Amino acid sequence: MAKKLWGGRFQKDTDKTVEDFTESISFDCRLIAHDIMGSSAHAAMLGKCGIIELDEAQKIIRGLDSILKDYQAGKIEFDTSAEDVHMNVEKLLFERIGEPAKKLHTARSRNDQVATDVKLYLRESIDTIKTLLAQLQETVIEQAEANAKVILPGYTHLQHAQPVLLGHHLMAWFWMLDRDRERFADCRKRLNVLPLGAGALAGTTFPIDRQFVADALEFEAVSENSMDSVADRDWASEYLSACAILMTHLSRFSEEFILWNSSEFGFVDLDDSVTTGSSIMPQKKNPDVAELVRGKSARVIGDLMSILTLQKGLPLAYNRDLQEDKERLFDAADTAQMSVRAFTLMLSTATFNAEKMYKAAGEAFSTATDLADALVRQGVSFRTAHEQVGSLVGYCVEVGKELADLTLDEIKQFSPKAPDDVAAILTVEASVAARKATGGTALSEVKRQIRKARKILAKA
Ligand code: ARG
Repeated sequence: MAKKLWGGRFQKDTDKTVEDFTESISFDCRLIAHDIMGSSAHAAMLGKCGIIELDEAQKIIRGLDSILKDYQAGKIEFDTSAEDVHMNVEKLLFERIGEPAKKLHTARSRNDQVATDVKLYLRESIDTIKTLLAQLQETVIEQAEANAKVILPGYTHLQHAQPVLLGHHLMAWFWMLDRDRERFADCRKRLNVLPLGAGALAGTTFPIDRQFVADALEFEAVSENSMDSVADRDWASEYLSACAILMTHLSRFSEEFILWNSSEFGFVDLDDSVTTGSSIMPQKKNPDVAELVRGKSARVIGDLMSILTLQKGLPLAYNRDLQEDKERLFDAADTAQMSVRAFTLMLSTATFNAEKMYKAAGEAFSTATDLADALVRQGVSFRTAHEQVGSLVGYCVEVGKELADLTLDEIKQFSPKAPDDVAAILTVEASVAARKATGGTALSEVKRQIRKARKILAKA
C-alpha cells in the first residue's frame, strides 16, 4: 500500500473500506484546475517572501502547469489512496519535480486550501450562470415583445381573474430572473474573500503575504479570522439558496408551460426539437423539458437542505463533514446550468396560440372588476359596487350568459348607476388598456418595462 502523505505517525495501513469511505478524489477531481491555480499563487508567494527558494517556487509552478496540461489532455490518472485532489496533485508533483514538491504545503493546510479551491470554482460557476440567465432574460424579452398584444386570462387560484397581455405575463418572469441574477452577483461579492493563509485553523508561523495571494487569485480581500476562514461555508449556503430560488422560479414557469401545453388550455405549442414522444401512444408529444426542470428543482432544494443540515451541528473549526459540501454544490451548479439552457431553448422555440388565449380571456366574467370600477367612477362605493356586480355575476351563471352578452337593462337592474357605455368597458381590450398605472398590464406599461429591461441587460 502506498505511503500516505500524512503517514508519519501511523504504524498500520488504512483499511481499504476506510480508504473508500473517506476518499473524495472521485468527485473533487473536478477542482484540479482551481487547486493548481491556488497552489501556484501560494508557491509564488512562498518564493517572494523568501519562505522557500525562488527557483524552488518556479519548479513547483512549472510542475503544476505540466500536471494541468496533462490533465486537460486526459493523461492524468488519479489514485484513490491519495484521498483527495489536493494530495493527488502534490503526489503527482513529487513524481515530476522531486524534493521541491515537498515544500509546497509550507504555511498552509488542506483546510484553507479546500475552502479556497471551492470558492474559485463557485466564482466561475456564478459567472457562467449569470451569463446563462442574461441569455434567458433576453429570450423572455424577445417573446414578450413578439407577443406583447396577445390577451390571455390572468389567473389567481388558477381561476380566470382579469385579462392580461402575454407580454405582461412573460415580463413577470423577466423580473423574477433578474432578482436571481442579482442574488448570484451578491453571493459572489461575499464569497470573494481569500481563506488561504488561515492554515489548519489558527493561522501560520511563517511571514506570508496574504494580500499577494489575494491579488494573484483576484480575491477582493483576505479573511479576517483564521478559524472563520476554514469553518465558514456561508458562501455554499448562499450559492445553493440562489440556485434553489432560481430553480423554484423555473419550476413555476415550467408548470405554466405544462398547463398551457395541455389540450385543455392549448395556449402554447412546443417545438418538436424540445419535446419527446411516448413509447406506446403514437399521438403523444410530451413537454418533458418542462417536467424535468420542475422535477430537478427538487434536487437543488434538497442540495440546499443538505448543506444547511451539514453545518448546523458543527463546532468550529474544520470538520471532515465539510467534505460533503462538494457533491451538493456540483450537483446544484450542473443542474441549474442545464435547466436554464434547456428552458431557454424551449421558450425561444415556443409558439403561442393567440386565438385560444383571447377566447379564454373573455370567459368566466374576467371583466367583473372593470364593471365595479366603472360604478365607483359613478360615485358608488367600491364595496357596494362589488356587491352589485357579484349579484349580477350570480344572475349570469343562472341564465348562462357572459358579462359581455348582457343588455344594458339587465345590468341596470343590478347596478342602477351603470354608465350607458358600459358595454365598451366590459371588453377584454378595454380592461387591459385601462390598467395604465405603473406596473399594470396596459401596452404602454409593458413597453416601458421592456425598455427598462433592455437597459438592465445592456449592463449585465
Ligand atoms: N478532502 C477534504 C475536504 O474536502 C480536504 C480537507 C481535509 N482536511 C483534513 N483535515 N482532513 O474537505
